[in-house]
Amino acid sequence: MNILALIALVITCWIGWRLYSNRHSMPCPAWLSWMVELDNPFAKAHKASEIIQMLQLKNGIRILDIGCGPGRVLLPLAKKIEEKGGHATGLDIQAEMIEKTRLKARDLNISNIDFIKLSIDEGKINEPYDIVLMICVLGEIPQNNRKSVLQKIANHLQSNGIISITETIFDPHFQSRKYVSEIMKEVGFVEAKFSGNRLAYTVHFKKKENKEWQQ
Ligand SMILES: C[S@@+](CC[C@H](N)C(=O)[O-])C[C@H]1O[C@@H](n2cnc3c(N)ncnc32)[C@H](O)[C@@H]1O
Repeated sequence: MNILALIALVITCWIGWRLYSNRHSMPCPAWLSWMVELDNPFAKAHKASEIIQMLQLKNGIRILDIGCGPGRVLLPLAKKIEEKGGHATGLDIQAEMIEKTRLKARDLNISNIDFIKLSIDEGKINEPYDIVLMICVLGEIPQNNRKSVLQKIANHLQSNGIISITETIFDPHFQSRKYVSEIMKEVGFVEAKFSGNRLAYTVHFKKKENKEWQQ
């Protein structure tokens, strides 16, 4: 197969996946987790180090990573907050993803971490968090459920907490900044911080009533 045929095949699969997943819930399968972990040089804002660097990590912080997948961001983040008495929770709909991440955490001696196997559209969150990460996951949640999911998260966010949303155009479930800002506005959030470009971005959202956080 020559290189052009390979590129055409990849693009066709990407478009097919995107069209299909617009209508059906289709989480990224666990056997493709290696792809999720690839560092794409064209998507700087999607890099784990960039996402982590943007966060304000106070002592005793509690972080929830929704759709943590293979732990690309969750694991280095948990390591980073360990000495500050912080705690990280990884939540994912797929048991295989959680198991992969749990084993890596054990090998890396990360102890300030726990896991919840849950579909965020259906299950409950039981604890309040300072930061909720949603990295390349919003588009995998069926469109009709997104607002109620975001409302559920809002109800479990500390009063000055943030929701950090990262998207990259290389993900077939990509959601535009405009769409993300609009849906977040509908559930009572405003943009607090932005980093990135058209290929990949991270936006932090704060609850509207926290005037000190508004720009
Ligand atoms: C593209 S992966 C991103 C993984 C990770 N956030 C990262 O950026 O490296 C999306 C993850 O979200 C999970 N996911 C999809 N729908 C979900 C849902 N409704 N509830 C919880 N997790 C979900 C998938 O199982 C998958 O592990």
